[in-house]
Amino acid sequence: MHALVNTGITAARRAGDLIMRYRNRVHNLKVTSKGRNDFVTEIDQQAEAAIIDTISKTYPAHGFLGEESGRQGNTEAYWIIDPLDGTTNYLHDFPMFCVSLGFCMRGVMEHAVIYDPMSQELFTATRGEGAQVDGRKIRVSNRHGLDGALIGTGFPYSTLTHLDAYMGMFKDVLSQTAGIRRAGSAALDLAYVAAGRLDGFWEAGLKSWDMAAGTLMIREAGGLVTSLSGSDSYMESGNIVAGTPKVHGELLKLLSPHLNEELRK
Ligand code: IPD
Ligand code: CA
Ligand code: CA
Repeated sequence: MHALVNTGITAARRAGDLIMRYRNRVHNLKVTSKGRNDFVTEIDQQAEAAIIDTISKTYPAHGFLGEESGRQGNTEAYWIIDPLDGTTNYLHDFPMFCVSLGFCMRGVMEHAVIYDPMSQELFTATRGEGAQVDGRKIRVSNRHGLDGALIGTGFPYSTLTHLDAYMGMFKDVLSQTAGIRRAGSAALDLAYVAAGRLDGFWEAGLKSWDMAAGTLMIREAGGLVTSLSGSDSYMESGNIVAGTPKVHGELLKLLSPHLNEELRK
């Protein structure tokens, strides 16, 4: 395994251990709101600090783009960090949350680590070298279309600007597939697509730290990732559709009539 991935794993486990240590004490945590239904706890912040501390000790020249502390240092070689993806779940003791780390070199995602501290599953990927869960190679499912497909999504919850468009998409996807899951951790959803547990996924309005690691994993596992209109701009717009090659193509077609100008970005 690549040395950078090993460091990422050490950092993600350290953050995961911290998250688990406070799990039964969430009611005593200081919770602040970054916006409507957008919560941050002191654990999100401490976990991010622990990740940056761990990585900086081995790679002092690397920079960071963290959800909680923003951009710092090197902008060519840097880590994109979501220290706790699924904070709302965590606050409710709903067991779907993870630590997500992606390493980016000159605009290209090179390595990915997603750690689920509840199950202790560790998803990893390196560009050109495939994706793994706990060291075992993973591939997207062999689902050939929407018939029988299980699709992940994220509901609009903070700004409800695109709620009507989303409900139209939801109705169409629900009526053509085996079902939809909204687990509440986009990074873990993407890892599940890579592992073939979900056949596809879509969400609007994500941030780069939600997607950085999971999208590399999906591509390395043989899947496709684009914006809702099929372009490469998803890291900027946050509007994403992913899946097995066939499911991805069919999802794009199904979602397309519901896209307004913003969602097409
Ligand atoms: C959120 C989760 C959620 C998704 C949101 C994200 P956070 O991340 O990934 O599943 O629907 O869009 O913001 O805030 O818990 O790190
Ligand atoms: Ca997140
Ligand atoms: Ca987060």
